[in-house]
Amino acid sequence: MSHGPQPAARGRFVTLEGGEGAGKSTLARALAAALAAAGQPALRTREPGGSPGAEAIRGLMLGRDGWDPLAEAMLVTAARREHLVHTIRPALEAGIWVVSDRFADSTLAYQGLAQGLGEAPCRALAELALDGLRPDLTLVLDVEPGLGTARALGRGDANRFDARDAAFHARIRRAFLDIAAAEPGRCLVLDAARPPEAVLASALAALRERLPGPA
Ligand code: TYD
Repeated sequence: MSHGPQPAARGRFVTLEGGEGAGKSTLARALAAALAAAGQPALRTREPGGSPGAEAIRGLMLGRDGWDPLAEAMLVTAARREHLVHTIRPALEAGIWVVSDRFADSTLAYQGLAQGLGEAPCRALAELALDGLRPDLTLVLDVEPGLGTARALGRGDANRFDARDAAFHARIRRAFLDIAAAEPGRCLVLDAARPPEAVLASALAALRERLPGPA
């Protein structure tokens, strides 16, 4: 006897984190394509951004220097809320896997740890904004900051963060490694100094192992 269509299994939520020039957007594209090729619909998205309101906030945030770190954390969190409500949650509920280039760990690393706001305000904002949503898997792309900055400059899209000094980039790297070490069940560090194909192979292996399913 038929009871109508079964609800789709909830999609999985994968986030990519790391400093500038680590190759997050390249990997996000390749992962989404690999999932789709395996028959699993997947959506690639990014932060700040990923929905019309969030993209507008991105323009505001990256368009000027000198935000107070708490104000900046509130801006990226407002963008994240829009992204969550209008893009991420509807996709997951429809059974689509979501691959996001950055998510809440970036606020902890950039505003919380590197800009000195501290962890508590970032965690409080996440608590307020995310309705308990957490990534199923976070891949931290780790690369020595000099190489990351050279890559970012080489592709000609240096943003105002890329121009920060070496100590800032070192703090970002440390912050992501600390976040990954604190949550080994959710996070995996990948050596992103390797060629993109090698990083993709490691990422797909991690997906197969930790999120059994299509890929
Ligand atoms: P983007 O050009 O997308 O940089 P990248 O290629 O390194 O991801 O710009 C996003 C910038 O915004 C990046 O420098 C990190 C910063 N950012 C924060 O400071 N806090 C956040 O919560 C997020 C999501 C991004």
